[in-house]
Amino acid sequence: MGRAVTPSRSFPDTFVWGSATAAYQIEGAASEGGRGPSIWDTFSHTPGRTLNGDTGDVAVDHYHRWRDDLAHMRAIGLRAYRFSVSWSRVQPGGSGKFNAEGLAFYSALVDALVEARIQPVVTLYHWDLPQELEDEGGWANRETAVRFGAYAERMARELGNRVTVWTTFNEPWCSAYLGYASGVHAPGRTDDAAALAAVHHLNLAHGLAARAIRGVLGDDARLSITLNLHVVRPDDPTSAADLDAVRRIDAVGNRAFLGPLLDGAYPDDLLADTAHVSDWSFVHDGDLATIRVPIDVLGVNYYSTNRVRHHAGEGERVQADGHGDSAASPWVGADDVDFLTQPGPYTAMGWNIDPNGMTELLVGLRERYPDQPLMVTENGAAFTDEVTPDGRVHDPQRVAYLHDHLAAVGSAIDAGADVRGYFVWSLLDNFEWGYGYERRFGIIHVDYGTQVRTWKDSAYWYRELLRTGSVPP
Ligand code: NOJ
Repeated sequence: MGRAVTPSRSFPDTFVWGSATAAYQIEGAASEGGRGPSIWDTFSHTPGRTLNGDTGDVAVDHYHRWRDDLAHMRAIGLRAYRFSVSWSRVQPGGSGKFNAEGLAFYSALVDALVEARIQPVVTLYHWDLPQELEDEGGWANRETAVRFGAYAERMARELGNRVTVWTTFNEPWCSAYLGYASGVHAPGRTDDAAALAAVHHLNLAHGLAARAIRGVLGDDARLSITLNLHVVRPDDPTSAADLDAVRRIDAVGNRAFLGPLLDGAYPDDLLADTAHVSDWSFVHDGDLATIRVPIDVLGVNYYSTNRVRHHAGEGERVQADGHGDSAASPWVGADDVDFLTQPGPYTAMGWNIDPNGMTELLVGLRERYPDQPLMVTENGAAFTDEVTPDGRVHDPQRVAYLHDHLAAVGSAIDAGADVRGYFVWSLLDNFEWGYGYERRFGIIHVDYGTQVRTWKDSAYWYRELLRTGSVPP
């Protein structure tokens, strides 16, 4: 990992430095304050679904400790905080009545952030669908998109122009494919056709929500969506079959979202690749026009890269895409693609560390969508962190990871990418979905027994970066 670039030289003064979390991963208080159950409550309480049977019932108790957590944000010097609203906390059944206590929680948080001069970057959906909506078909049901639009409208009225950026969805790829195809995420279904319907209904819900927010707040609202775009490389760049494997993964993983969001259509090759699974008749007249709303900033989450090859039809299948163990694949329509184990080094997730992929991704987006501002809404790494006898948490690998990825963002900016901000995932150690509490991404360590927060060296490092505007050694 080279350190040739000094990130400081590349970051504009207006660059937004932040950190990110998500409701189910940190809040806890799962049955307090009038909150209704979400699909992640159901899923995590189903034996065998999460490592050690961990749930978000308590998580890091942010619902009760948010003022302390805000004090940590201030002390680090964050300019922005990206968090998500739990839909089932503000509207327990996903439709109908809203819950005043839940609304008040987010309103108070936003007020306090604004007062602390930390820009609130709100995500309306970070995977925790109200269970009642799943009972009616979840994202495979078109009606869920309509309900999401109504929920977004209400949140725009509640939080109004105190919110700096409105993000409709976080990583809809995960909601659709991990939730409905491989089943390693809630609701844990394995139905490829349902997963494709979910892709479309998530896109549609984005369009409905973005239009609703714009309707309430007008041009003041800054709209966004965050995608986990996949950087995919061919095993053999001279092999047409391997290049076609890359194309397939790019279609189902990236262009299934970028296409309708930014180009106004689903790519023809995606429809052809998945024709044996679905006829896509869930796309109704007018949907594509609804989905294509100009967004002020495209959020990008980046962690790692993928290497693929065409599966020749014999031999053992290779599946090492870092998205959990499941007999089913999230890659609908790409049955003849093998994911290869990447060269290291790796994080505790088993994900390969590859900062060049960050530059490649951002520069590629700039080439494809020259006028679209970008923001890195997540980047970070899990390592096994411990509080040592000196009372500190020494996480040199995370510091190196963040340093090298910031350098990579700097290189992308130098190459012309319009990157407006960067958010470390995550502020706090938290519930890492199927991996429960066994993977720590925070720059602040949490003792899950006592809820004591301890800054890791990376938090001090980030504070220094924000204070000086240059990357400390
Ligand atoms: C992406 C997700 O948005 C977040 O919830 C998750 O914890 C991180 N990646 C790390 O896997």
